[in-house]
Amino acid sequence: MARPAKSPKTPKTARKPPLARPQPVTVHTCEADVPEGLERIARSELRRRFETRLESVELTPGTLRFTYAGNLYQLLALRTVHAVYLSQRYPIPRPRALLGDQHWRALLAQIAAVRELSPAGAYRTFHLSAAGPESSVMRRLREALAAATGLEPDDEAGDLLIRLRHPPDDDRLWEVLVRLSPRPLSTRAWRVCNREGALNAAIAHAMIFLTRPAPDEVFLNPVCGSGTLLVERLAAAPAAQVIGYDHDETALDCARRNLEAAGLAGQVSLRLGDCRSLPLAAGSVDAIAADLPFGHLVGSHEHNLELYPALLAEAARVIKPGGRCVVISHEVRLMEMLLTASPHWSVEQVIRVAQGGLYPRIFALVRR
Ligand SMILES: C[S@@+](CC[C@H](N)C(=O)[O-])C[C@H]1O[C@@H](n2cnc3c(N)ncnc32)[C@H](O)[C@@H]1O
Repeated sequence: MARPAKSPKTPKTARKPPLARPQPVTVHTCEADVPEGLERIARSELRRRFETRLESVELTPGTLRFTYAGNLYQLLALRTVHAVYLSQRYPIPRPRALLGDQHWRALLAQIAAVRELSPAGAYRTFHLSAAGPESSVMRRLREALAAATGLEPDDEAGDLLIRLRHPPDDDRLWEVLVRLSPRPLSTRAWRVCNREGALNAAIAHAMIFLTRPAPDEVFLNPVCGSGTLLVERLAAAPAAQVIGYDHDETALDCARRNLEAAGLAGQVSLRLGDCRSLPLAAGSVDAIAADLPFGHLVGSHEHNLELYPALLAEAARVIKPGGRCVVISHEVRLMEMLLTASPHWSVEQVIRVAQGGLYPRIFALVRR
């Protein structure tokens, strides 16, 4: 429930207060959907961006719950989460009581607080996600919401996503979560070209975080596909040089379109080439990130048996000693076998992450 933030105690020796009193800041309870496995990285991002405005952060698998004393609009900048919701608890025994005057006004105020974050016209439909969607109460709620918001109900998905459930810690209450944006935050506006096997942008951003991006570095993505890691690299920090290779001209075209949409076309060198033998000098790259063909939608397991060792060896050649290489793959056994035998790479961490029904691993490697 939104409430005013606690004001810090004023020491007795403090100087006179300024003439204009600061406005009380509202504390919001929020929840973020996070790719499962990346909760700690998402919490780091939250703390890095909003340290002084966070009162608490709680992690559960796939979720961050936090209280935030700040402008909700700024939460839309988060890049390692799927979506953020404004949460409000209602002390009611049954969802029907939401239609009562006091709670109804609170619910409409909660929805209005979210809608005002986006331009007028951004919302046309809404989706009410709750147990028993066909019950008479849910139908009445949908009708009342449609009348009050002017939005069309959508049974599958909607611009305005409203979730109704018991809060995880108290099944005597009801909680409404309203998504802060018409699309999930991980659905990036720059993605004008999609390809089978494209990496989720929130996961890509977490991988970039693990490379520890530095503004003076040369960054390489040797199998760039539609360019997700390239865009997210530059979204995280400037770089001296960003290079993307792919052996497929159509993948490079797709990456080019996405980079243009992101306003980054001039900052990335896209090159046609084979990641197993790159025309780059030894030790010329500072950091690498790669989303390898999993062997399901892109490539095949048989091909990976040859591709993976060659790519890891080439990455070890072009990167500087101490450089970080962060790789995502669903070929877990193959990666483990290659890394155990590798004289070049030490494994800093392995993270099991949920993506599209699969559980690939992110391998964070350091060049010995
Ligand atoms: C899993 S996809 C990368 C997807 C990308 N991260 C994205 O978000 O779109 C793997 C890419 O590796 C490329 N690839 C496969 N073998 C390659 C090779 N030997 N050299 C260069 N690129 C290769 C494929 O063309 C494909 O675009």
